[in-house]
Amino acid sequence: MSNRFRLGGDLDVNRLGFGAMRLPSKDGMGGPARNPENGRAVLRRAVALGVDHIDTAEFYFSAGGTVRANTLIREALHPYPAGLTIATKVGPVLGPDGISHGTAADLRGQVEANLESLGLDRLDLVYLRIGLMEPPHGESLAERFEALAALREEGLIRHLGVSNIDAAHLAEARAIAPVTAVQNQFHAARRGDADILAACEESGIAFVPFFPVGGGGEFEDARPAKVAARHGVTVPQIGLAWLLASSPVTLAIPGTGSVSHLEENMAAAAITLTEEDLADLA
Ligand SMILES: NC(=O)c1ccc[n+]([C@@H]2O[C@H](COP(=O)([O-])OP(=O)(O)OC[C@H]3O[C@@H](n4cnc5c(N)ncnc54)[C@H](OP(=O)(O)O)[C@@H]3O)[C@@H](O)[C@H]2O)c1
Repeated sequence: MSNRFRLGGDLDVNRLGFGAMRLPSKDGMGGPARNPENGRAVLRRAVALGVDHIDTAEFYFSAGGTVRANTLIREALHPYPAGLTIATKVGPVLGPDGISHGTAADLRGQVEANLESLGLDRLDLVYLRIGLMEPPHGESLAERFEALAALREEGLIRHLGVSNIDAAHLAEARAIAPVTAVQNQFHAARRGDADILAACEESGIAFVPFFPVGGGGEFEDARPAKVAARHGVTVPQIGLAWLLASSPVTLAIPGTGSVSHLEENMAAAAITLTEEDLADLA
């Protein structure tokens, strides 16, 4: 299986990328701030190790907004190396009462905020994120996706994705504009979305799961630990190797604020799972 994938048919990326949510705070959105210099060092090391696909969002920031993922990315990597793909997400609105869902009218401002903070004229890939952790079944995304597609027509976005969606949402979006990538929760110990993965494989859409190492570097499942022991590697590494082996359209975006975890995660690309391993993980 190739270790590279063409996002949208033209953005050639390493299937093992990087998720930026943990750079401002280990807890993800709104948690205690991490050291920004360390975050910039993680980003530079990621690119040095071959990461050319970074997943981020304007709403990835620490408590009080003191450390922000997009700012770290710009400070560490701008002017961006040729071939670096930065994917971001729009939809959620973070207010004093927490996170809520924006409307179609919010999307232009959110896209412009990403362009500004990342220092770009056009965003490579923008996901419309419509759910929090789970898809909002039965809720239409049409009005919001049409608004995002119009921003793409304007030239502000190269490719569109959808996140926290079900198969009906994917079909609804694809009837409006081409969908390049889907981002849903999926990992070695949580394997729903077979219908979505099949649709992605059939159409060359990237499936880019969040929580690729279980959301915390461990899985509530003994199977990856057994295979990790056999290979003499760590459980997160087996989680990533499994994800990459599970389909040619899956891209991994493990998140970390630690250089040593980053190095460990990138080394997972060299792990070849055997038939026995895959059977044990099945
Ligand atoms: N679309 C959505 O709704 C959505 C939701 C969540 C996330 N995302 C995206 O998906 C990316 C990946 O998800 P995620 O970061 O939440 O989850 P993840 O990659 O599964 O796990 C990250 C967590 O695991 C730890 N970790 C990472 N590598 C490790 C290793 N080798 N050993 C031990 N612990 C390790 C990290 O801690 P340390 O930082 O201390 O290493 C962090 O707490 C995010 O960064 C974000 O870009 C999208």
